[in-house]
Amino acid sequence: MVIKFLSCLSIFIIFLQCTLISAQQATPPAPPGPTNITAILEKAGQFTILIRLLKASQLADQIDTQLNNSNQGMTIFAPPDNAFSGLQSGTLNSLSDQQKVQLLQFHVLPTFLSMSQFQTVSNPVRTQAGDTGPGEFPLNVITSGNSQVNISTGVNNATVANAIYTDGQLAVYQVDNVLQPLALFGAPVPASAPSPVTSTPKKSPVADTPTSGNEPASPDASGAILLAINGLVATAGIVFLAGIWL
Ligand SMILES: *[C@@H]1O[C@H](CO)[C@@H](O)[C@H](O)[C@H]1NC(C)=O
Ligand SMILES: *[C@@H]1O[C@H](CO)[C@@H](O)[C@H](O)[C@H]1NC(C)=O
Ligand SMILES: *[C@@H]1O[C@H](CO)[C@@H](O)[C@H](O)[C@H]1NC(C)=O
Ligand SMILES: *[C@@H]1O[C@H](CO)[C@@H](O)[C@H](O)[C@H]1NC(C)=O
Repeated sequence: MVIKFLSCLSIFIIFLQCTLISAQQATPPAPPGPTNITAILEKAGQFTILIRLLKASQLADQIDTQLNNSNQGMTIFAPPDNAFSGLQSGTLNSLSDQQKVQLLQFHVLPTFLSMSQFQTVSNPVRTQAGDTGPGEFPLNVITSGNSQVNISTGVNNATVANAIYTDGQLAVYQVDNVLQPLALFGAPVPASAPSPVTSTPKKSPVADTPTSGNEPASPDASGAILLAINGLVATAGIVFLAGIWL
């Protein structure tokens, strides 16, 4: 009887020690020193494109500095390499350096969000890319009561997978798509605010000549004046030449 009890007790103690040991092994010690987003992503693997972009834009250093100085923490959505390959070819190259920074900042929230905190977050969520107005950088979190979290940008959607890193200050979640903000990939802003150029009833001949499309309306007008002056000078020149010949 006593022996049976003792053996049960010892089995229980062994079980207890095993669970304690496995619990200790499950939580690896936090790396010493300030958080290093590059090292976190390198360790996770499959994030070479994101790492390259973060380094090239110096955003990796900014994120580390911001984390060290912030008490709000930070949440990062990390698309792996195959998510970048899913982009239409040439997409990244078509972006200016500033737009690349905006694209990356769109994947960074200036607050720490645990997986369960996504359920109660209020939309649109503000990212480091800027304002959340129509055509800007709105990001909407869609949850369905269970633990699943999706993100909708107004251009595309992504599913948030489990955290590849979290320490209560920084959370890094893998997402299955590059988050494409409206400001960079959305359709042109609808005619809520018509520009003076499109509202003029008839185009002048000058306006019909192809322009780069990036230029505001005023250079066209000054171009017309310049053309008129050139014309005048040319006419004067012809008159002058005619005068010589006659
Ligand atoms: C962060 O980690 C990367 C990769 O391990 C390393 O190259 C870099 O020097 C680290 N940065 C700092 C500030 O320690
Ligand atoms: C992190 O913050 C502490 C205190 O604000 C500061 O002394 C330290 O230099 C910072 N380290 C880095 C790498 O920015
Ligand atoms: C999230 O997206 C996945 C894949 O598109 C879809 O199957 C799922 O229903 C979505 N969940 C929510 C909560 O919208
Ligand atoms: C994104 O998800 C929303 C809500 O689930 C859906 O209405 C929308 O059609 C999806 N957009 C794309 C581009 O898949």
